[in-house]
Amino acid sequence: MDHAKEDKKMDSPEKGMSRRGFLKGLGVTSVGVATAPKAELLAKLENAPSPNGKLLDKDSVSISLLVNGQKVKVQVEPRFTLAEVLRDQLGLTGTKIGCERGSCGACTVIMDGNTVNACMILAIDAVGHKIETIEGLESNGELSKLQKSFIEHDGLQCGFCTPGMIMSAKDLLDKNPHPTREEVQEATAGNLCRCGSYPKVFEAVVASGK
Ligand code: FES
Ligand code: FES
Repeated sequence: MDHAKEDKKMDSPEKGMSRRGFLKGLGVTSVGVATAPKAELLAKLENAPSPNGKLLDKDSVSISLLVNGQKVKVQVEPRFTLAEVLRDQLGLTGTKIGCERGSCGACTVIMDGNTVNACMILAIDAVGHKIETIEGLESNGELSKLQKSFIEHDGLQCGFCTPGMIMSAKDLLDKNPHPTREEVQEATAGNLCRCGSYPKVFEAVVASGK
């Protein structure tokens, strides 16, 4: 299940109440917000992007990102994270969003040869950097050796943590092609798996290096 999508749906105006309506319901005026700033705030929220990022604030800017070897142009608001832009605007939903605070590793991508949490990087700060996501690992429709090893060794259950795990493992293998189990454990320490697939993940990565 794509937990992030489910979470975002809860915030969607389609659920019956817009954010403007919600704020009005809370009685923003009654807590002392002056009329003019309140109007500005409501106008700003009303222009906030829909979950698929199609409506953009007037402060949005056009940027170019280099993702999986391809230069792509996107219109983003300065507050958008790299994870949001990859998923919502580029359709690269392999990058998952779990905690959105740099704790779970679900959003791990490789930037300039090192793993980063895409939820902690603003898209505008990713300009000029080389981004690799899970979608970039296959070649000519064929999964990479590492991805195949995850399948062969049952290195996943629900799969939510898997893209992040694989990107951390890829980063390790790029630098250390034949890692020990302990080295794999260390490299994936920032990737949480709530299904507890760790032993199989470690097996898969070690086998991929053999
Ligand atoms: S979603 Fe980025 S670290 Fe959890
Ligand atoms: S396989 Fe389910 S969270 Fe890791």
